[in-house]
Amino acid sequence: MTVASPDKPWGGRFTEPTDEFVETFTASVGFDQRLAEHDIDGSIAHARMLNKISVLSRQDMDSIIKGLEDIRTEILRGDFNWSVELEDVHMNIEARLVDRIGEAGKRLHTGRSRNDQVATDMRLFIREQLDFIVEKIVLLETALVDLAEREADTIMPGFTHLQVAQPITFGHHMMAWYEMLERDKQRFIDCRKRINQMPLGAAALAGTSYPIDRHMTAQLLAFDTPAANSLDAVSDRDFTIEFSAAASLVMTHLSRFSEELVLWSSTQFDFIELPDAFCTGSSIMPQKKNPDVPELVRGKTGRVYGHLFSLLTLMKSQPLAYNKDNQEDKEPLFDTVDTVLNALHAFGNMMPNIQTKRESMYLAAQQGFSTATDLADYLVGKGVAFRDAHEVVGQAVRIAIDSNRDLADLSLNELQELTSVIDEDVFSILRVEGSVAARNHFGGTAPEQVRLAVYNARQRLRVS
Ligand code: ARG
Repeated sequence: MTVASPDKPWGGRFTEPTDEFVETFTASVGFDQRLAEHDIDGSIAHARMLNKISVLSRQDMDSIIKGLEDIRTEILRGDFNWSVELEDVHMNIEARLVDRIGEAGKRLHTGRSRNDQVATDMRLFIREQLDFIVEKIVLLETALVDLAEREADTIMPGFTHLQVAQPITFGHHMMAWYEMLERDKQRFIDCRKRINQMPLGAAALAGTSYPIDRHMTAQLLAFDTPAANSLDAVSDRDFTIEFSAAASLVMTHLSRFSEELVLWSSTQFDFIELPDAFCTGSSIMPQKKNPDVPELVRGKTGRVYGHLFSLLTLMKSQPLAYNKDNQEDKEPLFDTVDTVLNALHAFGNMMPNIQTKRESMYLAAQQGFSTATDLADYLVGKGVAFRDAHEVVGQAVRIAIDSNRDLADLSLNELQELTSVIDEDVFSILRVEGSVAARNHFGGTAPEQVRLAVYNARQRLRVS
C-alpha cells in the first residue's frame, strides 16, 4: 500500500498529498516553535509517567529523555531545522526524536494527543511569562514608592477635567499609580490559579484507555491539579482571554500614566524632565526632545486590546471540543506578552530617572484658586453651613478673578465684607502647604499620609 503523505505522522488514511498552499496555510510552526521548551518539558513528564504505569520501558524512557534534551540543545543553539511539512512544533520535535533515537521515539505519543499537548504547552508558557510580568510590575512599583518617598512634601496641582482643582503632593500622585499597578499585579496572580491546571491526559478529547497517572504528571510539571474534565481541558482557551484582560488593564494604566508624563514634560506644564535616554530628537527641529517612550507605550495599548478581542472572538461559538480555530490563540498571546513586558520594562527603567521640577509645580498649584475648598471648609469650621460657605467663596473667587489676583492676595477687609466670621487665621489655610497638610486622614494627600502609604506599600512589596 502506498501512503499519499508519507512525511506526515497522520498520513496513513490519506490517498492524496496535501495541497501546497494548504500546507502553509495550516502550519503553525513559524510561530509555535516558541513553545518548544515547554513542549519538551511536557513530553519528558509524560514519558516518566508512562514508565511508572509500565507502558514504557525504563530503557525507552531514558533514551526519550536523552533525545529530547539533545533536541532542546539543538533548538537553543539555533541548529534545529524547522519544517513546514511537519506543521507544528509538536510534530517537528517528535519527528526529530524518531530521527535521533529510532523506535523508542515512536512510543512517546502513547496515550496523548496534540490537543492536550498544545493546551498544556500554552498553559506552561503563560504561567512562566505571567511570573516575569509580575516581577516587572514589582520593580516598577518599587520605583514609584521610592519616588513617592522622595517627593512626599512636593506640592503640585491636582486636576479634575484637566483644570487645577486642589493642591496635592507629588508623592500622593505616585502612590495613586502604585495602587493601580498593585491591582494589576493581583489580577495576574489571581488568574494564575486558573491557568495552573493540567490538560495532559485528556488526549484528543475523551481521555485515554491507558491507566495513566495524571496526578504524577501534574506534579512533575508543577501544575496544581489535573484539569477535571477532558473535553473542557482540550477545548477552552478562557485562560488566554483572562490573561489578556489582565494585560489590557495594565496597559490601560500605563497608557494613562504615559499621557500624564507626556503632558508633564511639555513646556506648558514643565513639571518633570524625562531622562534623555528615554527621549528622541526631531530630524528637522533642533530644539525638540520628544517623549517617545511614553507615547509608544500609549500607542501599543491598542494592539493589546485588539488581541483581547481576537481571542474572545476566536473562542465564541466553537462547539466542544478541540477545533483548529484554537491554533489562532498563539500570535495574539505572544504579542500581548511581549508588549506588556516591554512596556513595563521601559517604565521600570525610566521612572527612577525622571527629575521633578518642584518650583514650577509649586507655582502651578497656586493658580486656579486651588485652595477655594479650604476656604469653604474654614467657614464651615466657623459655623457657616457648607452650601452658604460655597456661595461666599464663589464671590471671593469672582473678586479675585476681576482683579487678577489669587485668593491669598485678597485683604482681610475684602474677605470680611463677604462674611464677618473670617479672621486673620484664614491666610494660613489659603496657602497650598496648609491645604495639603489638612488632608491628613488615611488615603489623603498630606505628606504624613504619603509616608504612611509608602510604609504600607513597602510591607506589601516585601511579601510579594
Ligand atoms: N498546532 C495545533 C494548535 O496549535 C496543535 C493541535 C493540533 N490538533 C489537531 N487535532 N489538529 O492548536
